[in-house]
Amino acid sequence: MNDHLVIFDTTLRDGEQSPGASMTKDEKLRVARQLERMRVDVIEAGFAAASPGDFDAIRSIAEVVKDSTVCSLARANENDIRRAGEAIKPANSGRIHTFIATSPIHMEKKLRMTPDQVVEQAVKAVQWAREYTDDIEFSAEDAGRSELDFLCRIFDAVIKAGAKTINVPDTVGYNVPGQFSATIRNLRERVPNSDKVIWSVHCHNDLGLAVANSLAAVMEGARQVECTINGLGERAGNAALEEIVMAVRTRQDIFGCETRIDTTQIVPASKLVSSITGFPVQPNKAIVGANAFAHESGIHQDGVLKHRETYEIMRAQDVGWTQNKLVLGKHSGRNAFKTRLADLGIVIESEEQLNLAFSRFKELADKKHEIFDEDLQALMSDEAVTPEQEHFKLVSLRVASETGEVPHARITISAGGSERKSEADGDGPVDACFKAVEHVADSRSELLLFSVNSITGGTDAQGEVTVRLAKDGRVVNGQGADTDIVVASVKAYINALNKLVSNSEKVNPQV
Ligand code: KIV
Ligand code: ZN
Repeated sequence: MNDHLVIFDTTLRDGEQSPGASMTKDEKLRVARQLERMRVDVIEAGFAAASPGDFDAIRSIAEVVKDSTVCSLARANENDIRRAGEAIKPANSGRIHTFIATSPIHMEKKLRMTPDQVVEQAVKAVQWAREYTDDIEFSAEDAGRSELDFLCRIFDAVIKAGAKTINVPDTVGYNVPGQFSATIRNLRERVPNSDKVIWSVHCHNDLGLAVANSLAAVMEGARQVECTINGLGERAGNAALEEIVMAVRTRQDIFGCETRIDTTQIVPASKLVSSITGFPVQPNKAIVGANAFAHESGIHQDGVLKHRETYEIMRAQDVGWTQNKLVLGKHSGRNAFKTRLADLGIVIESEEQLNLAFSRFKELADKKHEIFDEDLQALMSDEAVTPEQEHFKLVSLRVASETGEVPHARITISAGGSERKSEADGDGPVDACFKAVEHVADSRSELLLFSVNSITGGTDAQGEVTVRLAKDGRVVNGQGADTDIVVASVKAYINALNKLVSNSEKVNPQV
């Protein structure tokens, strides 16, 4: 029988550390549910001590997710561990993931601690964590640049203290596959009781080697890989979950281990994370890129038509690619609507939310006759800001755009319940609208990103717009979808402004 490879997803923690990828609690819950549906073993739901918002999101995820272990990150100090322990309490299966840096440069320059003090702190952290759970993971931050002897020493000490998973992060993406696999081999050979723990890897993609390094470690017996959907994560990101899972599945002959992932949920997960964060997936991205299974050249097309396996090593449907499926139309009822949302992993919490969503669906169905899954996902992502957080609301919008004339927008917005009108000229209709909105909102934020995607094909397709705003070091994403892309743009802008008004501060765990 093949070994089990534990898939540890950190989209909601390391992924969220990508500048601009921060998510609201509701968005995190939607991603967590999708990860559970995909049968991820461990969901790192956040970093409980970072902010009350993070704590609350982890706790809510621990309350609803039943089939995956829910984990919180914690630095190796008592406060962080206790916050993590409290946050995961409601989970069926909860894990505390504690870490401290072990490379000479991090210990000396960042922590200003001696190696002895680092070992002592790591052991204490594991002991505090044991008051909450037996499922404790210890990470040696910047292991990729740490001395092997020191890694052996600290891992020996934390295993004795009760750590069950030992994670070896290449925090700065500095390693190359042959070197990284040798590190794992040496550690497994030299650390006492190494066969009693699960060896894990966590690779960053600064040199584009995160997946290659992780898989090289699997060849040497690592049995947990930490990864993220679409490879999201700090700087150049983490190892992409979809690539790890499909490599191990497609090359069983090489890896000799298997995951329990339902691979048909991979593309829906990728789309969900991309639409929530506003990080588009490049078309040629392995597994989840729009072209990953497209055959353009005549020779390839001919080969695939004669025998699929001439040019395909995986089946598109096995990773969740489907033809755009017509699912609903304007005659569909509430029940069909609710059931389809549930199939897509979108849970409606209350009758009131259902009524609101259903009336928006009817509005869309009047404008667009064929409603696809992607349309529903976009429609529902507009709901990411809860009604209480909706300080600004678009009431009406009129834009004049004509060749040779300066575009002009007239807008009415409800701000905290009172209606405000504003007008502005702009370089284009979207620019004019944003200026008019800003007159009312006075957010003084900086626009970092404006991106428009067509959700499905056809000129009646909905445009999905992402707007990224920054203010005082905070970065938020807003989404909006509509068959009119100017309206979609204004919705996205207002959605981002509402998040700016409502979100709480966060701390980056690695700082
Ligand atoms: O990259 C890293 O070292 C991390 C640790 C906290 C595991 O994200
Ligand atoms: Zn990381």
